Amino acid sequence: MKLNLTHVRGARGSTHDLILSYNAVQAAFNAEHKTLFHRIENAIQQTGEKGKMPLWEGYEQIPEYVQSTGPGARRSMTQVRTGQGICQFYTWLAVQRQPETILEFGAAFGASGMYWLAGLGIAESGQLVSFEPNAQWCDIARANFDLVNDRHVLTAGTFEENTALVSPAAGITLIDAIHTKSVVLAQFELVKQVSAPGALVIFDDLNFSDDMWACWQEVCAASDVAAAWQIGKRVGIVELR
Ligand SMILES: C[S@@+](CC[C@H](N)C(=O)[O-])C[C@H]1O[C@@H](n2cnc3c(N)ncnc32)[C@H](O)[C@@H]1O
Repeated sequence: MKLNLTHVRGARGSTHDLILSYNAVQAAFNAEHKTLFHRIENAIQQTGEKGKMPLWEGYEQIPEYVQSTGPGARRSMTQVRTGQGICQFYTWLAVQRQPETILEFGAAFGASGMYWLAGLGIAESGQLVSFEPNAQWCDIARANFDLVNDRHVLTAGTFEENTALVSPAAGITLIDAIHTKSVVLAQFELVKQVSAPGALVIFDDLNFSDDMWACWQEVCAASDVAAAWQIGKRVGIVELR
């Protein structure tokens, strides 16, 4: 699937050329890895068939969250997963950049993580360090990750409480957890501390709320951000200095 990739600000160097080249190569890349992607989507479908499961209780601490998160709130794989087109881009990005560590949080049921692992497997290098505080969801994510390969360290806990596990430094990070400006900006500060120079940091669900959009504007304007891109209005990518 072609993506609506746009440059937001900053350097138009090699990372810029790489990211904007995706649409020219995506059809061939996705055809080459069709069987692998089919296997991952099968696992996602089977997890989806398990239905909705209770949300992590940490969401109850967030006042006036845009989505209902109170006691009894439940979600399915289908509701929380990153879309297939963006996931395939993540696989390609992992193959192109070949980072020692890809960091992601949260794992949820493992959809984005399986696609990161696919890229690490194709590259035959690197590890995925992933976090999911929902113990039930984390177990499902682990089983899904194992279907792809064993290049993962998945922790049943929050990223914030376990930053010491991110080693070697991350070359790519996906922040896809609680979608509020105050939470995400605090996580971004921690991500910078565990990232390699020139690392990419990806923000999901920019259009979740006005608050998340304001968060993205602040991230883009940060002095330690060299360049920023968007996939549609949903996903933001920045390159650290
Ligand atoms: C939108 S889902 C992630 C979807 C997943 N990346 C995918 O594409 O399949 C958000 C997840 O983040 C988890 N989460 C929330 N706060 C977190 C934190 N501080 N650290 C790690 N995970 C967190 C939630 O429990 C939830 O499972």
